[in-house]
Amino acid sequence: MSQEHHEAGFSTRAIHAGQDPDPATGATVVPIYATSTFTQEAPGRHKGYEYSRSGNPTRAALESCLAALEGGEAALAFASGLAATTAVLSLLQQGDEVVAAADLYGGTYRLLERVFRPQGVITHYTEDLEPEGFAALMSQRTELVWIETPTNPLLQILDIAAIAELAHRHGAILAVDSTFASPYLQQPLSLGADLVVHSTTKYLGGHSDLIGGAVVGRREQLEPVKFYQNAAGGVPGPFDAWLALRGIKTLGVRMDRHCTNAQALASWLAGQPQVQKVYYPGLPEAPGHALASRQMRAFGGMISLRLHGGAQAAHHLLTHTRLFSLAESLGGVESLICHPATMTHASIPAELRIARGVDDGLVRLSVGIEDESDLRDDLHQALGSL
Ligand SMILES: Cc1ncc(COP(=O)(O)O)c(C=O)c1O
Repeated sequence: MSQEHHEAGFSTRAIHAGQDPDPATGATVVPIYATSTFTQEAPGRHKGYEYSRSGNPTRAALESCLAALEGGEAALAFASGLAATTAVLSLLQQGDEVVAAADLYGGTYRLLERVFRPQGVITHYTEDLEPEGFAALMSQRTELVWIETPTNPLLQILDIAAIAELAHRHGAILAVDSTFASPYLQQPLSLGADLVVHSTTKYLGGHSDLIGGAVVGRREQLEPVKFYQNAAGGVPGPFDAWLALRGIKTLGVRMDRHCTNAQALASWLAGQPQVQKVYYPGLPEAPGHALASRQMRAFGGMISLRLHGGAQAAHHLLTHTRLFSLAESLGGVESLICHPATMTHASIPAELRIARGVDDGLVRLSVGIEDESDLRDDLHQALGSL
């Protein structure tokens, strides 16, 4: 990518960064380099690619684009968001500790508790989102602070700059899973985070047709993650890398629509008699609203809610929407409705999950980019039949 693109606006970078015309053919769109290997002129003499686990031009284009969008020096693409998370956690050795915010994706919790804890990497979780909450759990052994913001599923907002400062003061690094925000709504590296992790399955891909992940940061910090990427091999194939790149081109326009739809629906839901509580950082009364206004461009497309009728009413809503599909995942153009307790967060032991506020009464919406009036009508008819 030329220097011109590095300094360009967000959507220009999304469309052009890493995506110069193909040097071999002039193809305007980055081709899908469906090859496992690359022919060498002599042993060790090649055009920069040897074997597609180590590097592939389609994946390289995606990685350059992701780096440009997050304001990082480099990015590494993985076969899933959890493969990206695993690569970051692999920086840790037996005896190292992690401090994480308690509200986080169930699969991340499962990875920390069922894969890394048995290997001697211990995670402590804070429910106090202020830096003091993290400080209370930090020790000499803490090497990594892990947060999501907004969090999954309670849409809590954490202060990236303050937590980065605290982590650095204790000699640890801060990794932010920014999946719910996407690089369009916030750029954690510019606020002091060391690594940004994405499930590109979600807003970046944007069309619910791929599984992928990424880690973005400074080149030096990424060196061991890059080693792990090649050594462990959890890379995306060129087809998925290409789909992610294609999705990214429209990230800005999609996110604008996700955000305006979600803002309108959250306000409307908050006024419905059947609704007990709406979790959406764009609502002025939301606890994270002021911080989100500073830290994010807009408030995202995810909403969680509770109904007065508890778990039974939640079950009714989950089974009576027509446009909102009952499905895991988020961030695609189509609206989804999900029951975190039995779906995305089922891997957290029930007692702990309930104590953290993810009980059977919680419903999560991924608001798509359909017409807002149709989405509202759908929720209205589903709530109306309660
Ligand atoms: C916040 C967050 N991080 C990471 C992941 C994991 O991503 P993947 O499913 O691509 O492995 C998810 C998946 O739902 C998620 O919601």
